[in-house]
Amino acid sequence: MFSTKFLIKILAALTIISLTTSCSESEAVNVQTLAGKPQTVILDVYKSATCGCCKKWISHINDNGFQSKIHNRTNISVIKDKKGIEPRFRSCHTAISKEGYIFEGHVPAKYIQRFLQETHHDGVLGLSVPAMPVGSPGMEVGDKFQPYKVLLLKSDGTYDIYAYVPSYEEQF
Ligand code: CU
Ligand code: CU
Repeated sequence: MFSTKFLIKILAALTIISLTTSCSESEAVNVQTLAGKPQTVILDVYKSATCGCCKKWISHINDNGFQSKIHNRTNISVIKDKKGIEPRFRSCHTAISKEGYIFEGHVPAKYIQRFLQETHHDGVLGLSVPAMPVGSPGMEVGDKFQPYKVLLLKSDGTYDIYAYVPSYEEQF
């Protein structure tokens, strides 16, 4: 016969397994395709090999349901020039969705999810958090936080304010 201690150990192990599987399932961002099959969103991320805050931002989006394909580049301006991102809207890395939308810099995953679920994006390049605000995902410095804006970049070089992020908590 199994001892009670042994059975408790097995039960505990099973609970942990079921908890971890249900967590990873619920975290995935599923976008309905035309066929009605859910699809995980993959982003191509262009960055320099040595960028530490880029790696931290990638962990943030990966923890929030995205999958990222990393492309290290010695000159990161090339992709930004090609996508028409003006210098004043630029940051350290550029993520690109399969539709070709850009997510420039430390944009929180939740705004990328919201953007990709919306359908009215004529004449829009994507979203940008210019420069690198302290406290944005991947730019953590203790508990410091610098309020910032997420911009909606247009193909004609103008922008709208997509979101104002007044606090650290608002990002998740
Ligand atoms: Cu950065
Ligand atoms: Cu970066």
